[in-house]
Amino acid sequence: MSPEDSKPHSSRHVVRNLLRMMLRNAVSLAGVALALVSLANFFFLFLIDLISERPSPYVDILAYMVAPACLICGLVLIAIGLWWERRKKIEEVAEFPRYPRIDLNDPNQRSAVAFFASFLGAFVMLSAVGSYKAYEFTDSVQFCGQLCHSVMNPEFTAYQLSPHARVACVECHVGSGATWYVKSKLSGARQVYATLFKTYPRPIPTPVHDLRPAPDTCEECHWPQRFYGAQLKVFTHYANDEKNTPLQVRMLLKTGGGDPSTGAPSGIHWHMNISNEITYIASDDRRQTIPYIHVKDMQGRITEYMSKDAPPTKEQIEKLPRRRMDCVDCHNRPTHIYVPPDRAVDESLQAGRLDVTLPYIKQQAVTVLAKTYSTTEAAMEGIATDLHEFYTTKYPEIDKSRQEDIRHTIGEVQRIYRSATFPEMKLDWKTHPNNIGHFYYTGCFRCHDGQHVSSDGRMIRKDCDICHTVLGQQEGATRIISAEGSAFKHPVDIGDLTQVSCSDCHTGGVGP
Ligand code: HEC
Ligand code: HEC
Ligand code: HEC
Ligand code: HEC
Ligand code: HEC
Ligand code: HEC
Repeated sequence: MSPEDSKPHSSRHVVRNLLRMMLRNAVSLAGVALALVSLANFFFLFLIDLISERPSPYVDILAYMVAPACLICGLVLIAIGLWWERRKKIEEVAEFPRYPRIDLNDPNQRSAVAFFASFLGAFVMLSAVGSYKAYEFTDSVQFCGQLCHSVMNPEFTAYQLSPHARVACVECHVGSGATWYVKSKLSGARQVYATLFKTYPRPIPTPVHDLRPAPDTCEECHWPQRFYGAQLKVFTHYANDEKNTPLQVRMLLKTGGGDPSTGAPSGIHWHMNISNEITYIASDDRRQTIPYIHVKDMQGRITEYMSKDAPPTKEQIEKLPRRRMDCVDCHNRPTHIYVPPDRAVDESLQAGRLDVTLPYIKQQAVTVLAKTYSTTEAAMEGIATDLHEFYTTKYPEIDKSRQEDIRHTIGEVQRIYRSATFPEMKLDWKTHPNNIGHFYYTGCFRCHDGQHVSSDGRMIRKDCDICHTVLGQQEGATRIISAEGSAFKHPVDIGDLTQVSCSDCHTGGVGP
């Protein structure tokens, strides 16, 4: 017996005893391994976080949440093992077996120890690399868009067809900086729960109320000071008649800019909050009804506009949250663009994917696309039967002579459906309005309706030429307008255009 062993309460004795108990039971050993690995991971991730220029939210989550959690689990395991061992000891009241003595002079034991040490080293290294990879994966479009496949399917599908198809989800939805990591991770955890237990809302509601403000996302790529001048845009529509007569409007959109250093703040991008500050109150959750707007201009002058149609109450002005206008108030569908059937069919006809020589194809395609189906499969079937039936009953000769064309047409209409309508998520172009323009949705006319006035009698204008200039208009082969600056001529007489709301009739589905 060594002198220390005879003094059972010396601290050295206690430590040694503890260590012995720890290494002799599997539970504590596992705990030790887990703790070591998480510690190594923590240091590795911590280093990445220190040296990377744009720290990613996921590194931080792994480094500061996952690794410590594992470390704690490891420590708890150690404690459980110790407790277990102690109980056993008390029950058995037996002498502890001694450790195997490691003797590095014995070549057998030496190689065993070397093997064990290199195994441990490799394991620690690999798990560090593994967690880096895990972080990379959680940052990827695949993770965001495809992992929760059914939930994100609409957003992911539309995203892939959009101008931002190469921009990662996290560029717009998380951005850089510390607080937003935590925010997005907390809501991420909630989302994982919702996905597992299928408690998520269908569709996922829009707008995203805690979306990161545009200066930290959009403006990281788009230079907000840029002056665009006027841009040519051509709109091609096809009528609901037998010939699918095309109607084309060519217009200059006065996009402009909002920064005095790049040109006088003017045009549409005047709103961009560079020299002006616009805040507003919406009385509905989707921000489609705006009773009150507050403008602070470059000189600091304040103008308040109130809706004449639905004046805000004093309580609303005081209580409702004020939103500061940014890019997303107009560009709310920069990437998840759920194209209305009317526009999708027009685009397809123009691109030649649908055959404009098939009688009534515009009208029929929109009609089948706008129907309500319970599942995508039912929609595929419904589209095929309805279109077939239309041509067999109304145009039997065409049905016989152009079978191949009709088959193609059905395939294309089905493709359009799948790209913008998602019955499983109860989502289509009606549930997610697009605020650019004013044709299918209220959009700009939420404020520019000629009904929002200030106390000194000014109003937010609806004049057709403040946002664009019509350069030409053509119906079939007939030119209707060929002089710049002429007003848009509506194909059917509906009276004074400044007195109507286009989206009342043009719904994107069946109709004009
Ligand atoms: C170009 C920026 C951008 C990218 C890239 C992007 N989003 Fe979005 N996302 C938005 C905006 C803007 C909104 C709507 C915000 C609003 O109306 O409040 C949105 C909304 C959403 C919504 C809420 C439902 C809806 O449609 O409004 C989900 C879910 C979503 N995005 C998921 C994704 C996923 C998954 C990806 C990657 C595959 C992605 N987003 C990529 C900008 C982006
Ligand atoms: C990571 C960089 C990046 C971010 C973040 C980003 N964009 Fe873009 N955006 C682009 C690129 C690149 C294009 C050009 C795509 C092309 O021309 O094919 C583009 C194009 C656009 C266009 C023109 C679309 C068209 O029809 O040609 C608009 C509008 C736009 N972005 C708005 C936004 C808004 C709003 C946000 C924030 C919600 C945003 N972008 C965030 C990179 C980005
Ligand atoms: C008042 C509404 C509004 C706001 C706010 C706004 N935009 Fe725009 N933006 C438009 C309209 C309208 C167009 C014309 C293109 C169109 O109709 O699709 C446009 C065009 C663009 C384009 C495309 C230019 C091109 O070359 O095709 C980009 C990029 C863009 N905006 C980015 C931004 C960014 C970034 C912000 C925020 C800093 C912003 N916009 C704020 C309404 C707005
Ligand atoms: C939240 C309300 C709001 C929305 C939505 C809105 N605007 Fe405006 N807009 C204003 C206000 C306020 C003014 C300034 C009116 C004034 O004081 O003269 C303005 C002014 C303008 C001007 C005139 C700038 C100038 O040169 O004087 C244009 C052009 C414009 N908006 C285009 C648009 C377009 C295009 C859209 C839709 C994509 C849109 N706006 C959506 C509130 C809004
Ligand atoms: C506040 C700005 C604003 C005002 C006022 C305005 N427009 Fe527009 N208009 C737009 C924008 C922005 C677009 C482009 C939308 C897009 O890019 O899809 C547009 C598009 C259009 C189109 C093409 C739509 C399509 O999809 O074919 C027509 C036609 C049109 N406007 C007519 C009018 C008429 C008529 C008036 C007067 C009653 C008017 N606009 C007033 C902003 C405005
Ligand atoms: C009272 C209902 C009504 C209102 C409001 C209305 N339209 Fe129309 N619009 C129609 C009808 C009906 C047609 C003809 C449809 C056809 O020939 O197939 C039409 C056709 C059009 C077309 C030709 C393309 C197409 O879809 O057939 C354009 C472009 C158009 N309208 C623009 C506008 C604009 C811009 C506004 C708002 C300033 C507006 N309309 C408001 C009823 C309306």
